[in-house]
Amino acid sequence: MRYRKIPDESIRRLPVYLRGLLYFAETGAKGVSSEKLADFLHFNPAQIRKDFSYFGYFGIRGVGYDVNTLIKQTRNILKLGNKHKTALIGAGNLGKAILAYPGFGVYGFEILAVFDSDQAKIGKKISGRTVEDVSNLRTLKKRGISLGIVATPAPAAQQVADALVDAGITGILNFAPHHLIVPKKVKVITIDIAMELGRLPYYA
Ligand code: NAI
Repeated sequence: MRYRKIPDESIRRLPVYLRGLLYFAETGAKGVSSEKLADFLHFNPAQIRKDFSYFGYFGIRGVGYDVNTLIKQTRNILKLGNKHKTALIGAGNLGKAILAYPGFGVYGFEILAVFDSDQAKIGKKISGRTVEDVSNLRTLKKRGISLGIVATPAPAAQQVADALVDAGITGILNFAPHHLIVPKKVKVITIDIAMELGRLPYYA
């Protein structure tokens, strides 16, 4: 099912709601109200109700939402139901930290392959994965890998993104401080911690 005209901001909030719902599921709660979820996430309950209503999910007055059903539905909306096979490019400081982080599994991401251009790193194991030569990116399609994480220095990022696109990748999470140019069919999300920090003093 495809949902239309849903604000990007609502989609952006869904993974946060999912985190909250998973917490309530872990505590054994069967139902959760928008107020309780909002309290846990420091969100506005009306916003939560509105976001879920876009997808036709309405809580029951006095009972709230069924936690397990809403987890399933949220995962479906975000297409997290299936495992997403992912490749990481750039096995440096950031790449290693990403590989060591166990939290991606919650969202269905499996980092199955790691690539680098440094001969000293190729063939070495990092967090259970063997680093492969970046010149072998074209093998991704045949391995069913459709997402890429770019953790190379900025000057290499576009070239890596081009190779990922050629390898059939449909989504890129980019950590390099570089604007990637890709075909429309490919979604790029850039995360820049330095830029986020740059706006923090304004609020502090
Ligand atoms: P690093 O220098 O430790 O690692 C970069 C890795 O990329 C190295 O292993 C290098 O051999 C590899 N590499 C270089 N060119 C390549 C290519 N053409 N193909 C494949 N691999 C290649 O750097 P670090 O600290 O891990 O940072 C990686 C990137 O992430 C940088 O662009 C940095 O600016 C960015 N960064 C972003 C942050 C963020 O919040 N978005 C935070 C920290 C770093």
